[in-house]
Amino acid sequence: MLKLKVDSGKCIGCGLCVSIAGDCFKLNDNGKAEATCEGDQKKDGNAKVMEAIESCPVQAITISK
Ligand code: F3S
Repeated sequence: MLKLKVDSGKCIGCGLCVSIAGDCFKLNDNGKAEATCEGDQKKDGNAKVMEAIESCPVQAITISK
C-alpha cells in the first residue's frame, strides 16, 4: 500500500498536482493540496501520481510504502 502525503507547510497551492492527477489530489479550503486516494494506488497505476509528485515546484508531495 502506498501512502500519499502533501506537506501543507511546503505547498504553495499552485494546483499542478490537481490538474495532472485530479482523482488523487484536491485543493482544500486553505488553498493547499490534499491527497484524496491515499493507500489506494496500485503500483502500475501510478504514472499520473508520480508525474504530479515530480511536477510539484516545491516538492511538497511524498509517497511512501
Ligand atoms: Fe501544492 Fe505542489 Fe500541488 S505546490 S498544489 S502540492 S503541485
